[in-house]
Amino acid sequence: MTTTFEPAASSTSLNTHAELVRIAGALADPTRSLASLIGETGELRALVERHTRLCMDGSVHMSVGTSILPSGKAISPMQAALCAREPFRTAAFIQGLAQAIRAAMTPQRPVAVLYAGCGPFALLALPLMALFTPDQVQFTLLEVHADALDDARALIEGFGYGAHVAQFVCTDAATWRIAPGAPVDVIVSETMNTALGKEPQVSIMRNLYIQAPQATLVPAAIAVHLGAPGRSQEQPCADWGRIFEINAAAILDWQALDGPTLPAATIRLPEVLGDGPRLLTRIEVYDGIALRDYESSLNLPLQLPGKPQLQGGVTLAFSYRLGPAPGLAWEVQEATQETA
Ligand SMILES: C[S@@+](CC[C@H](N)C(=O)[O-])C[C@H]1O[C@@H](n2cnc3c(N)ncnc32)[C@H](O)[C@@H]1O
Repeated sequence: MTTTFEPAASSTSLNTHAELVRIAGALADPTRSLASLIGETGELRALVERHTRLCMDGSVHMSVGTSILPSGKAISPMQAALCAREPFRTAAFIQGLAQAIRAAMTPQRPVAVLYAGCGPFALLALPLMALFTPDQVQFTLLEVHADALDDARALIEGFGYGAHVAQFVCTDAATWRIAPGAPVDVIVSETMNTALGKEPQVSIMRNLYIQAPQATLVPAAIAVHLGAPGRSQEQPCADWGRIFEINAAAILDWQALDGPTLPAATIRLPEVLGDGPRLLTRIEVYDGIALRDYESSLNLPLQLPGKPQLQGGVTLAFSYRLGPAPGLAWEVQEATQETA
């Protein structure tokens, strides 16, 4: 891998560039554990917060600029900016994206990365612009909020990385059409909430991957399991089975479906529920780089919608609801009488 550091005409100092290159080198190092990168993710967050034109002094309410799209909630630019404060999430996505880019590299042309929902910092891409040359990687940045996209553009251009961006597009990534013939090697998106609820990750990955099935998805898979939390954070969660998963194969399987729901599993609860049932979100970012139970806010055990009081031994039938309030839906499946 070539590491380049070109202090192009930009508003940031040489020291700041050198700092970003150092942080990026650590975050993209596949030998580093996520836990060992907490320092660098903190430094990255401080760096982008120092250089953004977004006002980070707490005077802007988090909900200002939130939109409800036909595919789910697009969080506000401020809320998106605050995602940078989740160290494991940030480290896992940047390390995974770096690996996906390296794996897609050829001498013929730059790796084409489609980044859906870049937010005001384009946080998953910016460090990699410090590490790879524009001849190695080209990003197309999609963002539904014009202010967030403008902030991302100002930050990237301030660092002198404008040449790494093929296009800044203000659009809904759940419906956006890829231009015919445009190369797409990697699709990256972090537009999700716990248990794939509320936000449009599923619709976005589905829309983009179906148009570019040769691309590598980052994250590669997001699975929601049913289980019970351990008695302490150190104890593993009990796993009662996988309810739903989005990955490349599932998206291809869903091609013939055009209804308001996607299929999910039916699971019989154990007799003893403990503190369950809970929805457990597990994210495989890329080739073994994963976010497991409790590693970020996305992986916290979540109660079932409606917070029901359930008896052990009942069977729950799940489906995944698409639309402006996406998420898992469930119903108790009545026991059918065995016939002789
Ligand atoms: C959770 S934030 C993540 C920001 C950034 N990618 C990161 O990882 O720090 C999600 C971003 O995706 C944007 N977004 C949500 N739904 C979108 C959609 N359908 N099309 C384009 N952007 C979307 C939101 O506006 C928000 O800026």
